[in-house]
Amino acid sequence: MDPKPNDKRSVLTWIEDRVNLTEIISFLSVFGLLPSELDSRKRVREALGEVMRRPLPSYARWPHVLGILSFILFLFLGLTGTMLAFYYQPTADVAYSSVTLIARDVAFGGLIHQVHYWAAVLFLLVLGARVIRFFFTGLYARGREAIWMVAVLTFVFATIADMTGRLLPWDTAGYWTTIRAREVTDALPILGPITAFLVGGSGLDSLVLTRYYVLHIAVFPLILVLLFYIHFSSVRRVGLSRVDRAPGTRSLRVAMYDLLLLVLFMVGGLITFAVLLPHSFGVVADPFTTPPDAHPPWYLLAPHALMEAFPAFVPKFLRGLIPEIMLAAVLFLPFLDPESGSGTRRRLFRNVGIGVLLLWVVLTVAGWRLEVGR
Ligand code: HEM
Repeated sequence: MDPKPNDKRSVLTWIEDRVNLTEIISFLSVFGLLPSELDSRKRVREALGEVMRRPLPSYARWPHVLGILSFILFLFLGLTGTMLAFYYQPTADVAYSSVTLIARDVAFGGLIHQVHYWAAVLFLLVLGARVIRFFFTGLYARGREAIWMVAVLTFVFATIADMTGRLLPWDTAGYWTTIRAREVTDALPILGPITAFLVGGSGLDSLVLTRYYVLHIAVFPLILVLLFYIHFSSVRRVGLSRVDRAPGTRSLRVAMYDLLLLVLFMVGGLITFAVLLPHSFGVVADPFTTPPDAHPPWYLLAPHALMEAFPAFVPKFLRGLIPEIMLAAVLFLPFLDPESGSGTRRRLFRNVGIGVLLLWVVLTVAGWRLEVGR
């Protein structure tokens, strides 16, 4: 695209003569923020105008919004996390005072610290709800295995990212939640050794804190970006369901307004939670005094209660294997029920799913009572 010498030139045109902006912006489509690729041979205004007018497939609306909402929450976590990282110091002697500094002295630091925490809570809930929705709409049938497996893995990696974040403030609650979480993961015969290898042992010291930090701000976010990328590219290839592939009547312009509203509601909700229910980070961690209410994070209460439910004569290895087998069964569900069932088979899988979900809730409550309600 050669510049025309007598063209009335804007800054945008000047840049576009030198850089292919359309190609750069088309990157947004990779993460579902634009439903189709931009024609990178065209100038950005023309290419965007085309996409804005194109009718969207009807899957681009509620409740399918959980995917894009989870990705926006992830971006929000990245943004607020990066702001926190400007002041946070990942060594045991200063981590707590650096978070105290963020919360008390840095302008808007307290708010950023709080919304990062609440965004993490919402992120996990949205990802969990997405897996449940995919299950009940049969979104794991032949052809959509990747969508299902990626959704499950995204939830699992998000919980691990959350777990690594909890240690960072180096306060009593975070420190002891991590110790208790490690007790649960160490009891898992396959995942336990992998975790121990990643962070270098079972103890928690300054070096381990630094490793948690690297995992938290680099390794797991990268894994999550990759999983989101696979999710959106798989959705573009196979759609979210057979019936929803037909083009709808809404254009991208309308969908963008909806997206903007969604973001405003999300940020408003997070700030409301941050102000009304601030998450306190307590006093500095004391490795020698276990607080009476130290418990694993909520997503580990169920496997913890399950392992504790077995009588003492059942070997530890076997107790740990059961939650891992259950996780593997969930992950590989598309291969257990490739047609996502029909008739009786569908009912059977649906009932088993409801049973597993109820069991999860009951075990979570049992785990909570075991730890806190004693
Ligand atoms: C690029 C992405 C991210 C960066 C750079 C980042 C950075 C940080 C930093 C520096 C802290 C310590 C400061 C503080 O506690 O205020 C922190 C804490 C935390 N992060 Fe992240 N984070 C990222 C993504 C995530 C994700 C994806 C999750 C959850 C799934 C998450 C959950 C948490 C949690 C729960 C805390 C502890 C908050 C507390 O207890 O006070 N973060 N993060």
